[in-house]
Amino acid sequence: MNEHTATVAGVAVDTRHWIGGARVGSPSTFTDVSPIDGRALAGVARGSSFEAGAAVAAAKAAFPGWAATPRAERARVLHAIADGVQKRSEDLAQVETLDNGSLLRSHRRGVMPRVAHNFRFFADRLLALSLDDFTTPPKGPGPVNHVSWDPAGPCVLITPWNAPLMLATWKVAPALAAGNTVVLKPAEWSPLTASLLADIAADAGLPPGVLNVVQGYGSEAGAALVAHPDVCRIGFTGSVPTARRIAASAAGHLTPLSLELGGKSPLLVFADADLDLAVDLAVEQYDNAGQVCLAATRLLVEESVATEFTSRFVAKAARLRQGDPRDEATDIGPLVHPAQLEKVDGFVRRAVASGARALLGGTPNTELGGTYYRPTLLTDVAQDSEIVQEEVFGPVLTLQTFADEDEALALANGTRFGLAATVVASDDERARRVTAALVAGTVWVNCFFVRDLRAPFGGSRASGIGREGGTWSFDFFCDVKNTVTAPGS
Ligand code: NAI
Ligand code: MG
Repeated sequence: MNEHTATVAGVAVDTRHWIGGARVGSPSTFTDVSPIDGRALAGVARGSSFEAGAAVAAAKAAFPGWAATPRAERARVLHAIADGVQKRSEDLAQVETLDNGSLLRSHRRGVMPRVAHNFRFFADRLLALSLDDFTTPPKGPGPVNHVSWDPAGPCVLITPWNAPLMLATWKVAPALAAGNTVVLKPAEWSPLTASLLADIAADAGLPPGVLNVVQGYGSEAGAALVAHPDVCRIGFTGSVPTARRIAASAAGHLTPLSLELGGKSPLLVFADADLDLAVDLAVEQYDNAGQVCLAATRLLVEESVATEFTSRFVAKAARLRQGDPRDEATDIGPLVHPAQLEKVDGFVRRAVASGARALLGGTPNTELGGTYYRPTLLTDVAQDSEIVQEEVFGPVLTLQTFADEDEALALANGTRFGLAATVVASDDERARRVTAALVAGTVWVNCFFVRDLRAPFGGSRASGIGREGGTWSFDFFCDVKNTVTAPGS
């Protein structure tokens, strides 16, 4: 233990940066708090352009060695990291819960297994793809095309607070598998599990400098990282305004970007839908207190079933248990930070002031202390209103009705976003027609949040640039090269 080590849920977390295989402090720190009770958890190194530069230099120095490491060896190290994640999954779950207020039971059952799987998946995918072994079948005596996926170089990965370790490893794993080196900058509201990941990766034998973690407050370290000329890829998940700043900065060096941004996704309930399923899927949108980019926050329900759907939905949602996220019985925990609570409450207040009606919730849950916001459903909302058009990132859903398919699609597609959409309908023909016309990176039919890591993931329109998952991640993280060899060579 030393001044840089915080004990969080009984777990020792070093809150300095991890650069070139060593812990490095900064002259100042920022305070990381727990949204459960507002308690200070740790003082975290406050990175600046100085640490950003040092981390990129470390990633650059480590790149040739890691890029030249045989793929089987890279895959072995990634599996060893997954083993380490599994071994420490309870520590990771406890720390993540305290840090950002997400449910402990979700971490235990779903998130931490997925974190390990992110590494295993991309390790196996790397080998299965036989990167650089693809040769087009020669037609007759012509030249042979040989496509290779070459490692690109140091990557900067900037990640948000809503699913900190899951979203970080979703980028870190393919970047490392591809043979790149990484500087990870976690969000300042949830910096701790990234630091534990650095320990796990080092224990797994990942060479120094291959994964670096720079902590930072707001844009301080992040802006310096994305502007750095030696950075070959930028992967970002977060908000649209920050994405704009990053893209503008990346333009200076034409650094390729992958952006996974917000959403305002619709859930369409048609009259022929299984209403119990529709209600279950709609209530699921309150998961993680609504702090999910994919959340279908706009419930669009066919008029003829709207009354029935709404009463069943309100009855079910009213039974959700709000409370301490460490309690296994809790369904909805706190929002990540007092500032997020204020932001969410501001959206709801402005909506109500302009005519929206709360059928459920509509206020912070002050009985619990902390940053709890009641699950909320707002109706009487206009399509062009702020509450329908802007991402709230809290447990706030809107309800609109439609008369027919055309109106349903006009509402569904009527925002600047295009991350996901969910359709609940029994008529297969209708489901096919509607899904074909929806603008979204992912469309779910009679299900929600089902992810196969081989499938592409990303957003249309303002929801992002590029796709992650499967081959798409490798296409982004590699320099794809085509070598044409003359016949007979
Ligand atoms: P943000 O987009 O500002 O922050 C995300 C990350 O970017 C953090 O690590 C932050 O430190 C970093 N960052 C901030 N400014 C930067 C800059 N100029 N250059 C490089 N990096 C920079 O998100 P924030 O403020 O935490 O959340 C605001 C809203 O963003 C939320 O209310 C929600 O609507 C949306 N959001 C969307 C997410 C998604 O999954 N798509 C995740 C988190 C937030
Ligand atoms: Mg925190």
